[in-house]
Amino acid sequence: MNVDLYEKIWMWGVGIMLFAFFSATAWSAVTRQIHPPSHVETIDPKTALNDPRFATQGLWTDNEGRLHLTVMSMMFTFLPQRVTVPAGVPITFHLTSRDVVHGFQVIRTNAQVMVVPGYVSQFTAMIPKPGEYLIACNEYCGIGHHQMSTTMTVVPAAEFTMPEQRDNPFAAHAGGH
Ligand code: CUA
Repeated sequence: MNVDLYEKIWMWGVGIMLFAFFSATAWSAVTRQIHPPSHVETIDPKTALNDPRFATQGLWTDNEGRLHLTVMSMMFTFLPQRVTVPAGVPITFHLTSRDVVHGFQVIRTNAQVMVVPGYVSQFTAMIPKPGEYLIACNEYCGIGHHQMSTTMTVVPAAEFTMPEQRDNPFAAHAGGH
């Protein structure tokens, strides 16, 4: 079979690129433990606001002193509406939606997740620098999507008072891999 020279160049080029991309994925999975999110925790969206996990939103500390933030998403707001957190301290975010798919993004940080009804989204992030941060919904969710935002105030850790301690309501649901 006669394959044109340019065709060959492109085929090799594509082959090399595919090899590079798959190798990069495999390399980061094996050596840096970077995996797709696998935290599968479900919740009934209709009763999510009464669920012990989401009945109280906001910032809390678990029995080991780690910071958590519970956020309920709904058309077209986030609860709590305002939150103050310390800079440079890891925070575990727990989110769900009681209606449609929303996005949760703390603008100018790497704290971002998709919020899907029926599931609890969880991630841990820290905000390095103090300041006022806009939290925006970045998934189109309806007529009020553009208004769906709130503010996160990040203060130096020394000026921050740790919130009340709670028994981790998510602990019993942990698992799923
Ligand atoms: Cu919620 Cu867009």
